[in-house]
Formats: sequence, structure tokens, C-alpha cells
Amino acid sequence: MDNPDELMEQPDLAGPILFYNEEVIEHFTNPRNVGELPEAETDGYGLVGDPSCGDQMKLWIQVREGRIEKIAFKSFGCPGAIATSSMLTELARGKSIEEARRITDDDVVEALGGIPERKKHCSLLGVMALQAAIQDWESRTSEDGGARP
Ligand code: FES
Repeated sequence: MDNPDELMEQPDLAGPILFYNEEVIEHFTNPRNVGELPEAETDGYGLVGDPSCGDQMKLWIQVREGRIEKIAFKSFGCPGAIATSSMLTELARGKSIEEARRITDDDVVEALGGIPERKKHCSLLGVMALQAAIQDWESRTSEDGGARP
């Protein structure tokens, strides 16, 4: 049998932390715009999932005069999903609906200064949730004749 002392050696715990750059770690540990908007403040809501990993993302927007006034998200995902969703909300907040619609996962990754190649798919969750929330906003505004401000 192997030396029991060798079996008790601590694994290298620094690895996963070094995997992400400082900006990504900062957004993962202090994610912006986390939470949800109350029903009265919600003009659009999106729920999306990534079937490959089972992660999920919920996102709420409030739209005023065609701009995203408030945005909030809850991620049931990995550090990459949380950091990229946090950055996505920062990019989208204050933007017009048309500008927000054009935000891509590449924009999010670039704003974070990069993300490991095999985690790039995580940046899609936030973008897809934003698109879903915008679609929901559009269907709500068409249902009530565009009465929302
Ligand atoms: S592994 Fe699923 S979103 Fe990152």
C-alpha cells in the first residue's frame, strides 16, 4: 500500500482560482444587480437554461422610455455564468432596447478581459436571458397596446 502520509497530502487548491482573471473573480465574488424585481416593477422576464450543464438563469428588466432602467438576475450556475451575467447586466443597464438587443456573448467576455475557452458557453446564459426578457417586454407592450412607459 502507498504511504498513508502521501494520501493525506493536500490537493493544490490554487488551481481553479487561477483559472479566471481578476475581473472575472471580482464579478463572481461581488456580482452586480443580483436579485429579482418585484412584479410591479417588472416589464420583462426571461428564464433560460443550458441543457449541456443544467444551469439556469432568471432575469428581470424594467423599461422606461425605451431604456432598461432596472435589471436584476438570479443565476443557478457556475462561477463563469455568475460573472458573465453580472457583467451583462452592467452592459445592459441604461441601454436602449435596441442597444441591449445587440449585446453579444463576445461583448460580455471582452468586457471581462477574457474567460477560459471551455467556459465561454457560460456567457451565453445571460445574453439569452436578456433576449428572452426583451421578447417578454415586447409581448407585454403589444398586449396592452404599448401603454407602458
Ligand atoms: S457550466 Fe453551465 S453555465 Fe457554466
